[in-house]
Amino acid sequence: MELYLDTGNLNEIKELSDILRIDGVTTNPTLVSKERKNIIDLLDEIIEVIGEDKIVHAQVVSKDYQGMIEEAEFLSKRYKNIYVKIPVTVDGLKAIKELSNEGIKTTATAVFTAHQAALAAKAGACYIAPYVNRLDNISGEGVKVVKDIIKIINNYNFNTKVIAASFKNSQQVIDVIKEGVHSITVPADVMKSMMGHPLTGYSVDKFIFDWERVFGEGTKVTF
Ligand code: E4P
Repeated sequence: MELYLDTGNLNEIKELSDILRIDGVTTNPTLVSKERKNIIDLLDEIIEVIGEDKIVHAQVVSKDYQGMIEEAEFLSKRYKNIYVKIPVTVDGLKAIKELSNEGIKTTATAVFTAHQAALAAKAGACYIAPYVNRLDNISGEGVKVVKDIIKIINNYNFNTKVIAASFKNSQQVIDVIKEGVHSITVPADVMKSMMGHPLTGYSVDKFIFDWERVFGEGTKVTF
């Protein structure tokens, strides 16, 4: 399972990449705009933090085919380990097909249906990003859409991975993991909510209380 941080915030990336084994970072125009930085400066800084061997998924902002192609070519020339996020519109599908022909790696994003996913996989997208919470918000059964997309990819052996995105709670995350999703991209608050449990802290406190009662305060495991 690949694990990505869904944020453009350097503090969150530093904090969580220090703790967790992440595969990279995903951004989108909204996340970049929150940081109030030029996208190139921000991507440079993100890569400096996570390392050049990790993956970044960064999105184009053009809505037309030619603009998407130009932005994708620019990003892929500048960054070795980048997957260019292309929204699955009509122009986006055409761009994914052309970029795949050029050997440029793409992530088909803003995916809301299995139909979009099937066409994007066929067009040559390396990743497909279905938006779980945005689907759940309209009673669109986000997890079921992810499950259907995984099935399509497996049925046809497409050389494409599903990177489930748009999470607002840890239940959505674990539900897609149980379906065998290849990758997840998770915002910092949801990631942190997955990292512990009050009973774990309680159990640790009880262990140490029992230990120190017998062996003395502050004693460690030693020979
Ligand atoms: C992936 O990178 C998507 O852009 C992102 O997960 C969307 O999340 P949101 O629905 O919380 O904006």
